[in-house]
Amino acid sequence: SGSTKIIIAIDGHSGCGKSTTARQVAVQLGYTYIDTGAMYRAVTLYFIQHKIDLASEKAVREALAKIHITFEGDPETGTIQTHLNGQNVEEEIRKLPVANAVPEVSAIPDVRKAMVGLQQKLGHNRGIVMDGRDIGTHVFPHAELKVFMTADSLVRAERRRIELQAKGEQVELAEIAQNLEKRDHLDTTRTESPLRKASDAQLLDTSHLSIAGQVEWVVQQAYLTITSE
Ligand code: DC
Repeated sequence: SGSTKIIIAIDGHSGCGKSTTARQVAVQLGYTYIDTGAMYRAVTLYFIQHKIDLASEKAVREALAKIHITFEGDPETGTIQTHLNGQNVEEEIRKLPVANAVPEVSAIPDVRKAMVGLQQKLGHNRGIVMDGRDIGTHVFPHAELKVFMTADSLVRAERRRIELQAKGEQVELAEIAQNLEKRDHLDTTRTESPLRKASDAQLLDTSHLSIAGQVEWVVQQAYLTITSE
């Protein structure tokens, strides 16, 4: 029936507009948006703040036991604020120190185990749009709708360049493209839950789509999925 709530898993490369798309799809469907990248970023911030030795399994486990991540959302706009142990860290987790350290932290098996557990709990009541790298392959292998987003790396770099320019930062296109390609490489080649398209995921190439266009595409797929449930 139309009131069936499904799980929508959105995975893909960095800089394709995954989180913007996922957030707007959630607003249109009245679903909860969950940004799993923000969770890995919050863990990374805690590890930086407490100078956790990433090579020590014991230190990592003890730290994970002390980390509580929650989201405060505005259902109207779909914007969410990530909280780490009760503190709003939304701005802090987007900054360079966290961005630089998160690939290494998100590759630690105990970190992934803890985050996947939390993500599965958050999705328990369904009616969620979750974006990340391993949602359709690992977190919710039985998600009713899986989308794998990609875009040409030069297109992604140009979008990022415009975003940065709006914030007053001038960065060369080639430098941004290189950085994106490096992140793609790290994400797809790591041993722990590498980024890959689930065989039953729908491919969405956003190279020639607007945000509105990609949102509409996913919402349409969601309605098709819900009515066939
Ligand atoms: O989507 P993002 O840029 O906020 O992700 C931050 C980092 O976390 C990035 O290095 C990929 C990693 N990540 C992951 O390993 N698994 C996820 N489900 C989401 C993000």
